[in-house]
Amino acid sequence: MTMRKRKIKDRIYWLGAVDWDRRLFDSLIPLPDGTTYNAYLIEGSEKTALLDTVDPPKADELMAQLDGVSKIDFIVSHHAEQDHSGTIPRVLDRFPEAKVVVTPKAKPMLIDLLKIPENAFITVEDGETLSLGDKTLTFIYTPWVHWPETMVTYLKEDRILFSCDFYGSHIASSDLFVTEQGRVYEAAKRYFAEIMMPFRNVIEKNIEKLKGYDIQMIAPSHGQIHDNPAWIMEAYQDWVMGAPHNLVVLPFVSMHGSTRQMIDHLASALVENGVGVELFSLPVTDIGKLAMSLVDAATVVVGTPTVLAGPHPLTAYATFLANALRPKVKFLSIIGSYGWGGKTVETLAGMIPNLKVEVLEPVLCKGVPSVPDLKALDRLAGTIAQKHKENGFR
Ligand code: FEO
Repeated sequence: MTMRKRKIKDRIYWLGAVDWDRRLFDSLIPLPDGTTYNAYLIEGSEKTALLDTVDPPKADELMAQLDGVSKIDFIVSHHAEQDHSGTIPRVLDRFPEAKVVVTPKAKPMLIDLLKIPENAFITVEDGETLSLGDKTLTFIYTPWVHWPETMVTYLKEDRILFSCDFYGSHIASSDLFVTEQGRVYEAAKRYFAEIMMPFRNVIEKNIEKLKGYDIQMIAPSHGQIHDNPAWIMEAYQDWVMGAPHNLVVLPFVSMHGSTRQMIDHLASALVENGVGVELFSLPVTDIGKLAMSLVDAATVVVGTPTVLAGPHPLTAYATFLANALRPKVKFLSIIGSYGWGGKTVETLAGMIPNLKVEVLEPVLCKGVPSVPDLKALDRLAGTIAQKHKENGFR
């Protein structure tokens, strides 16, 4: 399905592609609902700007939408990742007079990634404006959303923020604007968890910076346009700055049922103590769902059997990913069953240098858990509940 150019407001258009089929991004991130690559065309009274492009496999769709566009003066590249920048060379071939507008950090990246000639660029400073005649673009640096070079554009006259990945969501849809808020909330949270959570401290500064602008609409580069942006801005505020929730996330693997028995016992004890739980059986888990739950979790308990003298490789993968995502989590423990020995706890504990967590006493048992092992899990549940209460996690 090829979408045609769609009008957003007077002389402001959505261009781009809906990718209904895509199921994986960066060969890592699951996209259960596909995605879109949004570009925007702004026709001022004197100059015309194209904001971002599309992923190269969708280049023909964008180029067809540009049929009939007589000139492009500026191609604003908010972010050098190829799902937005990858079609810039094709656009430059058709509009060789266009200048690529970027941050100074983006320029060498685009030269490296796309071999765009150096003289095609204009670099802009943070807060710099560019007049298109009766429409004015203001460029605002937003580093680490989610690469170091990223910026957004504010269109003053129409009070629209073109935010690129920021506030985006991976949903393929024929809707131009957000219609199902709950669905978009989930997709946006998944997206935040997978690529932005590690950079929370910088994103907090970006959120504060954007408070200086009257934003009536947010047009991201993935997913639908927010014509009522307050809720997504509040959601980001919570994900970035909010306290962890009274929630334990339990990613686990069980080979013969013993570790599963321990996870189930601990989860029941936690619920009895008033703590919420989310269980993720790693062989069947959508890793994006696990990432989303880490946005809120106060505690993570990894459940793993000992195999090949260490943790099950799937729990090692989940632990490595959690360390890379740097969630707000405050407490961590490890539980599981072993046959004769190994270095499970040491191996997993060595994989979380980024997590500023207090490690709670692990519970490992030999074979099937016995009554003392289950009592140890009860004590762990009580400790977690107490820690959450002391910290005021709700
Ligand atoms: Fe949608 Fe970071 O690219």
